[in-house]
Amino acid sequence: MPSVFIKTYGCQMNERDSEAVAAQLVAKGYTLARSEGAADVVLLNTCSVRDFAEQKAINKMRNVAGTARSEKRTQILGFMGCMAQSRGKELIDRLPDVDLVLGTQKFHRAAEYLDELLAGKRDKIVDVEAEAKSEAAIREHLVNGSSKTATSAFVSIMQGCNQHCTFCIVPATRGEERSRTIPDIVAECRELVGRGVKEITLLGQIVTSYAKRDLPILDGKSPFVQLLDAVHEIEGLERIRFTSPHPKGYGDDLAEAYARLPKLCESAHIPLQSGSDRILKLMHRGYTRERFLAIIQKLRQAKPGIGITTDIIVGFPGETDEDFEQTRRLCVEVDYDMAYVFKYSVRTGTPAATMGAQVPEEVREERNQILLEVLKAGSLRRSQALVGTVQEVLVEGRDKTGTHFAGRTPGNRAVVFDAAERLVGSLVPVEITRASVSTLYGNLVVQGAGLQTEPSPASL
Ligand code: 5AD
Repeated sequence: MPSVFIKTYGCQMNERDSEAVAAQLVAKGYTLARSEGAADVVLLNTCSVRDFAEQKAINKMRNVAGTARSEKRTQILGFMGCMAQSRGKELIDRLPDVDLVLGTQKFHRAAEYLDELLAGKRDKIVDVEAEAKSEAAIREHLVNGSSKTATSAFVSIMQGCNQHCTFCIVPATRGEERSRTIPDIVAECRELVGRGVKEITLLGQIVTSYAKRDLPILDGKSPFVQLLDAVHEIEGLERIRFTSPHPKGYGDDLAEAYARLPKLCESAHIPLQSGSDRILKLMHRGYTRERFLAIIQKLRQAKPGIGITTDIIVGFPGETDEDFEQTRRLCVEVDYDMAYVFKYSVRTGTPAATMGAQVPEEVREERNQILLEVLKAGSLRRSQALVGTVQEVLVEGRDKTGTHFAGRTPGNRAVVFDAAERLVGSLVPVEITRASVSTLYGNLVVQGAGLQTEPSPASL
C-alpha cells in the first residue's frame, strides 16, 4: 500500500486536520512514512496567517519536488489547508510538480483524490469549493493508529470566523462560521474517552461564538457554555481545554464555568492583539483595553491560579510609539504566563492591507524585541512562583529526550519529571523544584496511603 508523509504548518486546528487526514488514509490501508523521502505521497498542510508561514511551505515543496526529481522518484505532492484554499490553482501554476490542492472544506476527500492520482485516473486535482456540512467531516482520530496511548486529543467543534478582524486572512481561508451539533461533538468526545483519552481540547477559529446562530441562550448560558456543560458530563474525561476564544465571548457565564466545572482547566488563551484602543478599533476587535482588563480580573477572581496567555501583533498599520507603549503597559499590567508576539504581515485582500501608513520592518522588529523581553521576564517570574508548589499533572508520555516524562499543569505549563511508564494517562501530583521561562521541573509526590514509591527510571 502507498505510504504518506504529512507535514503541518500553523495552528492546532491544522494539526487536528492533518491527524484526521492521516487517520482517514490509514483506515484505507495507507501507511505513515517517517520522512518525506520515503513516502509515495507528500502532503503539506499549510498556514496563511502570515507571509512567513506561506513562504516556508512553498520552499519546502520546492525542495521536496527538486529532490524527488533529482533522485528520479515519482511522488504525489499535495498542498492542503489554508494556503491551498486561498491560493488554489495558482499553486500548481507556480509549482508544476504539485498534483493536488485540497481546500479547508475538503479534507475528508483526501483518500478519494489520492487514490485517483495514484491510479493515474487524473493528472491534477484542485478542489477548494465550499461544501455544506464539511465542519462535521473532521472526525477520524489516530488514537489507536499508533502504539502510543494518546492521553490528549483535539476535537473540532466549529469552522470559520465571522469576526472579520481587519488584519486576518482566516475568513478567506476557513469561511463563515459553521458549528457541529452538541450531540455530535459529545459522541466524538465519548468515543475518544472510551479509547483512553483523558484530556480534550475543543477547537475552532472562534470557539466562544460556537453555534451562536443555531442555539438560544439557556439560563444565561451561551451555546459554548452549554457545550462545555455537556462535555463535562462525560465520565472518565478528566480535563477540558479550548482554543481559540475571542475576548468578547468571555461573558459572566464563561467566567462562572471556570469556577463551576472542575474538569475545565484553569488556563485561558485570550488573544489581545493590541493594548491601544485606537488600534483595537482599526483592527475591528470589538473591545477596549478596559474591557479586556475587566475580563482578566473576572477570570482571576473565579480561578486565582489561572494561567493566562495571549497573541499580540506589533506594527499594525498606523501603530505609533504611543499605541505600542499602551500595549507594552497592558502586558506588564496583565502579567501573562506566556504570549506569542507576531510582527504584522500584510495579507492581500484584508482591509488592513490597504490602510496605508505601514510600519517599517525595523520598527516592527524593535517593538517585537521590546515586547519579547517584557513577556519573557514575566513568564520566568510566574514560572518561578510555582517552585515549591505541588501541581496536578497529566502524564502525557516521555519528554523530548526520552529519559524523563512530560505533562502539563492545569494552567498549561509543561512539566518534566521522572515517573513510570504505567503512569502515562494518569493525573499525578508533582512538586515543582525548578523553573525556566517555559518549563517546570519537579518530582513525583509519593503519597503515604496506597501509592508505592516509584522505581527510579534506571530500574524500569
Ligand atoms: N500579521 C501578523 N499576525 C497575524 N495574526 C493574524 N493575522 C496576522 C497578520 N496579518 C496573528 C494574531 C492571531 C494569531 C493566530 O496570528 O495574533 O491571534
